[in-house]
Amino acid sequence: MEERPDDRPDLPPHLRPEAREDGRGLWPVRIEDATLSAGGRRLLDGLSFALPAGGVTALMGPNGAGKSLALRMLAGLIRPDSGAVRWGAGETPIKGAVALVFQRPVLLRRSTAGNIDHALAIAGVPRRERAARRAGLLALAGLERLADRPARALSGGEAQRLALARALAARPRLLLLDEPTASLDPAAVAAIEDLARRIVAGGATVLLVTHDAGQARRLADRALFMHAGRIVEDAPAARLLAAPRSPQAQAYLAGRLLV
Ligand SMILES: Nc1ncnc2c1ncn2[C@@H]1O[C@H](COP(=O)(O)OP(=O)(O)O)[C@@H](O)[C@H]1O
Ligand SMILES: [Mg+2]
Repeated sequence: MEERPDDRPDLPPHLRPEAREDGRGLWPVRIEDATLSAGGRRLLDGLSFALPAGGVTALMGPNGAGKSLALRMLAGLIRPDSGAVRWGAGETPIKGAVALVFQRPVLLRRSTAGNIDHALAIAGVPRRERAARRAGLLALAGLERLADRPARALSGGEAQRLALARALAARPRLLLLDEPTASLDPAAVAAIEDLARRIVAGGATVLLVTHDAGQARRLADRALFMHAGRIVEDAPAARLLAAPRSPQAQAYLAGRLLV
């Protein structure tokens, strides 16, 4: 039975994005006219969008549209062939300001708590602060009772909550979620959505890739629809999901196959 972390605490101040970064002008982050090719194929083709601070933006689109590439570009893992990722006033985000969570988290062969400790160490959290932060993250993710369990023995939902808790270790301002609930049962999905809401209420900005229109409607203020390496529709999530205007989003939401 999956534990549903109902009535979980708000994000405590020591887990929120650090206030001192607020003046650093990271927002809006923009992808500007990015192109990327591999093996003679154009994977990103004039990709442009901006993310202001706060809230959840859903990034939707068929498989192969380039959604994961866009997230990897925002995380600084890949660079476009042309075009750019720009942060607010042109600054580079400080280490830890952006975190990426994948559909299938890769957890270390350690306990649940050990995975969080490792992330806190990587994030440069001073040793004396780690116990309090670890306790806060375990509570936030509803994992206190599983702290000593080997992480690789966790259920899919528990593992994904741990992946989210770990991603928060560096107090990111931008959290990139790539299909975080794609293989989870409904209770586990609800727990992840609940956690995402509390993360956003704590001051982070979330870009969420999802194929679940219901999830986009529940969580997102805004939706971007991506097809063949570019954004073809950018609208309030409720409007895009109820009455898409681009032929690509209309076809996708109607369940038709796109070529
Ligand atoms: N390293 C790579 N080399 C070649 N092609 C890639 C590479 N990474 C992704 N692709 C291709 O780029 C396209 C977009 O991939 P991806 O961003 O993963 O799509 P999505 O996340 O929207 O399903 C796909 O056709 C994929 O096969
Ligand atoms: Mg993908």
